[in-house]
Amino acid sequence: MCGIVAYYGPDDAYDFLIKGLHRLEYRGYDSAGIALLNGELRVYKNKGKVSELEEIASKGNTEGTRGIGHTRWATHGEPNTINAHPHLSPDGDLALIHNGIIENHDTLKKALIERGNTFKSDTDTEVLIHLIDAIQQAEGVDLFEAVRLALNEVVGAYAIVILSKRDPNTLIAARKGSPLVVGISDKEGEYFLASDATPIVEYTRKVTYLEDGEIVSIHDGQMTIKTIENVSKTPFIVNLEISLEALEKGGYEHFMLKEIFEQPKAIHDSMRGRFNSETLHFAMASLNEFQDKIRNLDRIVIVGCGTSWHAGLVGEYLIEEFARLPVEVEYASEFRYRNPIITEDDMVIAISQSGETADTLAALELAKSKGATIYGVCNVVGSSIPRMTHAGAYTHAGPEIGVASTKAFTTQVAVLTLIALGIAGIRGKMKRDKLRQMFAELDTIPQKVEQLLKNCADQVEQIAAEYKDSKNFLYLGRGYNFPVALEGALKLKEISYIHAEGYPAAEMKHGPIALIDEEMPVVVIATKRNYYEKVLSNIQEVKARKGKIIAVVTEGDEKVKEIADHVIEIPDTEDSLTPLLATIPLQLLSYHIAVMRGCNVDQPRNLAKSVTVE
Ligand code: G6P
Repeated sequence: MCGIVAYYGPDDAYDFLIKGLHRLEYRGYDSAGIALLNGELRVYKNKGKVSELEEIASKGNTEGTRGIGHTRWATHGEPNTINAHPHLSPDGDLALIHNGIIENHDTLKKALIERGNTFKSDTDTEVLIHLIDAIQQAEGVDLFEAVRLALNEVVGAYAIVILSKRDPNTLIAARKGSPLVVGISDKEGEYFLASDATPIVEYTRKVTYLEDGEIVSIHDGQMTIKTIENVSKTPFIVNLEISLEALEKGGYEHFMLKEIFEQPKAIHDSMRGRFNSETLHFAMASLNEFQDKIRNLDRIVIVGCGTSWHAGLVGEYLIEEFARLPVEVEYASEFRYRNPIITEDDMVIAISQSGETADTLAALELAKSKGATIYGVCNVVGSSIPRMTHAGAYTHAGPEIGVASTKAFTTQVAVLTLIALGIAGIRGKMKRDKLRQMFAELDTIPQKVEQLLKNCADQVEQIAAEYKDSKNFLYLGRGYNFPVALEGALKLKEISYIHAEGYPAAEMKHGPIALIDEEMPVVVIATKRNYYEKVLSNIQEVKARKGKIIAVVTEGDEKVKEIADHVIEIPDTEDSLTPLLATIPLQLLSYHIAVMRGCNVDQPRNLAKSVTVE
C-alpha cells in the first residue's frame, strides 16, 4: 500500500518518477504526488490517479535531477490533495514520501505542536518530516543524522525517501517493515529507488534490497548504507530477472485478463524442475534440506490473507490427505494477536503473492520467535517474507499487476501440491504408484488449463452478460472445491462490487438457503470426483427454490446438465487437482461481469494489491 519512487542522478527525474508511479499504482491509487529539486523544490500532487497528476505536472516545470514520487492508499486522513504525499517541513525545504504507518504520530505531533509547529494535513507522514526538520534545526546535524535520530523516536512501519533543498546533493531513504529497493545504474552517480523492482528494471538490473532498520544515503553521487544504530553495512547487490514484457499488457485489455490467460505458463513455471514424473525424483531443495525437521513435525500451520488464505485452505486439504499431518489454516491477522500455541516441532507456512503483507510478516515473526520452522510460498522474488524464512519456494508466476489475484492463486496451489507430495514422501506416506499418478497428472495441468481457457472463454462471457445486474451471488463447493467457491466469491466482490458469498455446499441449508429465490444466481462446482452425488442434491435444493444454477462440471457430465441453467465443462483431473482448473471459469466470470458493469478491473475501488499496513 502506497508506492514510492525516487531518482538521484545526472538526468531529469520526471520521466522515471511518472513511469514508476504507473507501475506501482497497484499499491494504491487514492492520490499521487511528486517533488522535484532543481534549485527550487517543486511539489505537484493531486487526489486521484497518476494520470491526473501527470496532466497537472506536465503543464508546469518538470526539471530536476533529484525527485521523489508517491501513489497513495489512504490510512491516516481522507484521500484528498492536502493529504497526498510528498509532505514538507514547515519552511518547505524538506520533502518526504512514506509508505507505512507511524503508530506514535499522535504523541510526536503533540510535542511538535507545543514547540510551535502547525500542520496542514491529517497524515502521520507530515509529523515525521516536521520531526526530522525539528531535529536538524535543534541539533545542527546533517540530513542523514537528523533522519537517523528521528527514526529512533518512531514506532511503526515505514519506507521513506527525503529530499532537501538545503542539501541538494543528498537523498536519504530508510525502511522498516515496508519494502524499498535501490537500483544502481551503470551511469556514475545514478540511483533509482522504489517500493519494488518493477519501475527500476527498465533502467538497471543491479539492485539492493534494503533490510529493516537500514538507512541509505546518496551523497555527492556515492551510496552508503548504515543502520539506525549508525553501524555501516555493505550493500548486497543482486541481479533482477524480471522481463520488461511481463510488466506490459501485451495486447490484452486489462492486466487481469492477461494474467488469467498466462496461467498455463505460470503453472508450468511453478512446477518446472521440481519433480520428474518418470524417475519420480523430487527436487525441491527447500524441503529436501529440512528432511529431519519434516520427519519430526507435529503439525503445520498455514498463514495468509485474502486469496493467499484460500490457497492455504487447499494446502490444508492436500497436506492432510497426502502427508497425514495435521494442518491448521489461519488468517495471519488473527494468528498474530491471539497468542497461538506454537512449538519448535511446528512448521509455519506463509503464503503471500507480494511477500510483503504486514499481517503475514508479523505472523511469521511471531512463529519464528517461538522456535517454529518458517517456510514461505511467495511470488515476488527478493521480497520481505522470502528473506526472513528458513526455507521456501517461489511460485514463479511472474509479475501480477491486476489487483485481483489470479495466476498467483493457481501457482500457489500448484506449489502447495508439490509441498504436500514432498512432505508425504519424506514422511513415508506416499506410495510410488500414487506418486507416479500425481506427477503424471500434474504434468498435464498446464495443457488442460490452456484447453479450458479456449473452450470456456466465450461461454463464460455470455453467462456474465445474463447475470451482470444481479445483486447477490452464492458460490458452493465441497472438499477441494470449497476454497474454490470462496475464491470465486472473493473475485466477484473485489472487482464487480456485487455481494457474493462462498459456502461449503452442505452448509447452504444452515442459512444461505433462506436467500434463494429466482433472483439468486448460485455458482456450484460439481465436478465428478468431488462428492458429486451430494453436490447434485444441493443443486436440487437450489432449483426447488427457483434459484439459478451456473454449474462447473467435469467434461461429459450429463446429470447436472439436466437441472442446471448453465454448465461450464472443465477437463477431468484428480480430485485434489480440481482447484487448478475449476478456479479458471470463475475468474473469467468475475472479470467479464466487472467489465460489463464498467468497473475498473485492474484497480478496484478501495483495494490495494500489497497491504503493508495491518
Ligand atoms: C490484498 C490483495 C489480495 C491479496 C491479499 C494478500 O488484499 O488485494 O488480492 O490476496 O492482499 O496479499 P499477498 O500478497 O500476501 O498474497
